[in-house]
Amino acid sequence: MDVTIFGSGYVGLVTGACLAEVGNQVICVDVDADKIAMLNAGGVPIFEPGLDDLIAKNRQAGRLRFSTDADEGVAHGLFQFIAVGTPPDEDGSADLRHVLAVAQSIGERMTGYRIIVDKSTVPVGTADRVAETVRAAQSERGQRIDFDVVSNPEFLKEGAAIEDFMRPDRIIVGTDNPRTGELLRALYGPFNRNHDRVMVMGVRSAELTKYAANAMLATKISFMNELSNIAEAVGADIEMVRVGIGSDPRIGYQFIYPGCGYGGSCFPKDVRALERTATTIGYEAELLQAVEAVNHRQKERLFSKIEHYFEGALQGKTFALWGLAFKPNTDDMREASSRRLMEQLWAVGARVRAFDPVAAEEARRLYGERADLELVENRMDAVEGADALVIVTEWSEFRSPNFADIKAQLSTPVIFDGRNLFDPNQVTAAGLTYVSIGREPARPL
Ligand SMILES: NC(=O)c1ccc[n+]([C@@H]2O[C@H](COP(=O)([O-])OP(=O)(O)OC[C@H]3O[C@@H](n4cnc5c(N)ncnc54)[C@H](O)[C@@H]3O)[C@@H](O)[C@H]2O)c1
Repeated sequence: MDVTIFGSGYVGLVTGACLAEVGNQVICVDVDADKIAMLNAGGVPIFEPGLDDLIAKNRQAGRLRFSTDADEGVAHGLFQFIAVGTPPDEDGSADLRHVLAVAQSIGERMTGYRIIVDKSTVPVGTADRVAETVRAAQSERGQRIDFDVVSNPEFLKEGAAIEDFMRPDRIIVGTDNPRTGELLRALYGPFNRNHDRVMVMGVRSAELTKYAANAMLATKISFMNELSNIAEAVGADIEMVRVGIGSDPRIGYQFIYPGCGYGGSCFPKDVRALERTATTIGYEAELLQAVEAVNHRQKERLFSKIEHYFEGALQGKTFALWGLAFKPNTDDMREASSRRLMEQLWAVGARVRAFDPVAAEEARRLYGERADLELVENRMDAVEGADALVIVTEWSEFRSPNFADIKAQLSTPVIFDGRNLFDPNQVTAAGLTYVSIGREPARPL
């Protein structure tokens, strides 16, 4: 089938490469000319395991092309995917500017029936706005051409995006037109062979399903972070509590890790956007507000622990940071906990020496050259002579370090662990002080 994808970011590139891999003819269109030039020169603008090989293979096979030309894109695909960014607006609601710009562009150019597929995460009612925009653009040029708008939210996880796309838990198709539903089902057939994962539902239900999934996952994290703070105060070990509750199959072990807050391009903005949607219809989403507030506070938790340990004397100190990305296996630093921590450290005159297996380039792009940020090539370079080691991202290569080496390199023997990677006994046996999340000794009640 012929497929056009607007937006060549994490979602657009993975969708394009995977749809090409199963034999479709795909054109990815983006307004960012540098990005398209890089892709056409064989580069890949993001780090996502396996993506570079998949893109190279399908470009070579002639099934995957990249372009800045919207004319070419609209002329090509029966399916016109919208996979552009939906960043938060000033009030937290989803900014639909890019989504509606693509709708406008399709409406201005289409000459035959098209299925417009909303893959970006968009608030309930957006499919209607996309349809209105397409219709208005058509009538501007005195045309009336048939089209459908389908909601097909994406659930891939950065770091495991290709696996998630190839073997999805579910494929949500929101449409009121059974024929369009069947066409989407056919497009997704190759990803749906093991058992039926396609769930066809109304457009608004599909739009809300995406927000509901992310809000639920964010709620689990904030719940555990809230409990970790209580555990610290009462002298309990949150890791024991975690395994204790996870054993209940109604709760489960997944996604109940305490830490220094969630980040990334999805959870923070989607929780806020859903909360805004609720507000606009006159409903106060108190639980969502709390999820967001707890996360905001949790992102400052590491700094408070560091400040407390050094009794406020942080100016001129150097902190070794392990991990900059918002989670392992990605270079994405959008709303990463590392950013809040670094900004707090810089504000009090401390320096950061950071190591991340893939996100250094992204940190350089975000912060430029600055005297209080040094990006190093390996994890032990970060530690050498630093006043403390701070773990921010749970990359697997951080899980079993040589604690004796770390102790020898640090000028103060202390590790602040925002991801509870280590066994406290092992760290303290090496002569290090270990400050983690939800496992501190009891303070008097
Ligand atoms: N990143 C994820 O893990 C993930 C997972 C599921 C859903 N989503 C959702 O998918 C959407 C895209 O996310 P992303 O992370 O891929 O974003 P991204 O920022 O990585 O990429 C968006 C791309 O869209 C391009 N763009 C903007 N306007 C355009 C236009 N008019 N025409 C063509 N291209 C245009 C930008 O140049 C950019 O390359 C968002 O709504 C996001 O919430 C993201």
